[in-house]
Amino acid sequence: MMCFPGNIGAKALKCYAKLALLALCIIILTLTCCFEFLTAVRATLVANSFLGYSWYSLRNIGQNIRTPCKIENSSLEMRHDNLSHDFFQRQKSRCFPSCIIFGVSKCGTRAVLEYLTLHPDVVARNSEVNFFCNKTLYERGVSWYIQQMPLSEPHQITVEKSPDYFECHYCADLIYAANRNTKLILLLRDPVERLVSQYMQLADKTAGLPPMEEWVINPDTHVINNKLSSVMAGAYSEHLSHWLNVFPQHQIHIIESDNLRVNPLEEMTQVEKFLNLRPFFAPGDFYFNSSRGFYCTRRRSTGKTKCLGKSKGRHHIH
Ligand code: A3P
Repeated sequence: MMCFPGNIGAKALKCYAKLALLALCIIILTLTCCFEFLTAVRATLVANSFLGYSWYSLRNIGQNIRTPCKIENSSLEMRHDNLSHDFFQRQKSRCFPSCIIFGVSKCGTRAVLEYLTLHPDVVARNSEVNFFCNKTLYERGVSWYIQQMPLSEPHQITVEKSPDYFECHYCADLIYAANRNTKLILLLRDPVERLVSQYMQLADKTAGLPPMEEWVINPDTHVINNKLSSVMAGAYSEHLSHWLNVFPQHQIHIIESDNLRVNPLEEMTQVEKFLNLRPFFAPGDFYFNSSRGFYCTRRRSTGKTKCLGKSKGRHHIH
């Protein structure tokens, strides 16, 4: 591109406009690079301070994994195709979750995970790993975390649930540092009902737990004990605002717990869209079990039915 100072007129104006456009592009590119770099530095500093490294240790910058799967040689399966009499290999791998259900506990997180496993393009880790909120586990590294995931085929996505992440603010940074493309699902329920549910769970496991009104009230101040982590879990906006500082809003999907309970198909169809899964869920996948008082699932491939365990859907005190 050349500009001729002597040639004043439309041609010169066009030329200056092109130069201005080029300069603008360079500025935008530089700002984008700076933003990406600062985000990486921030996430790394959080990760390092979590691990107790000194603040200037930037050795993990760029740890954001590019190939979030580990191929397992032992899982190369030879499968016989009856029609073509052909043999082909199905390569299985363990992958960093494409989606993490990160809270809130007692809002139906198990139900969503269970429902998701009906979809043929989903594999899910059954138990909670709590990798990002446990220093000892985190020190084992992201490779260890990936190793904890179930085997998946190339067309399947991996999902895990660890509802304790919601209240652990540095978890957002650590997940982002590991894979910024991770999608997140959050379930919300009336905070008082959620608290009662948590109390019922605790009462099941703890002998001699005081009555709820004593448990929840601070004996010194006679107001709600907000030092209790179970109470603080219900401060949804405080926790969520932190996650939204790290992840873009379009990567977080919120499920209303009450609607999940009465209309699982509607909610799971939304989840399917959010995760870019092919449409699969249909009315026959869920049926209301009146003796349980909840929806249960029917697996299409086998016809097997399944309800959640007795620890889900406890009788509440009033
Ligand atoms: P309650 O036990 O208070 O009724 P989580 O899995 O996150 O711990 O949430 C447990 C809650 O999931 C239960 O709380 C229940 O209300 C809700 N839930 C939603 N769908 C359910 C289902 N199909 N079966 C059992 N519980 C379900």
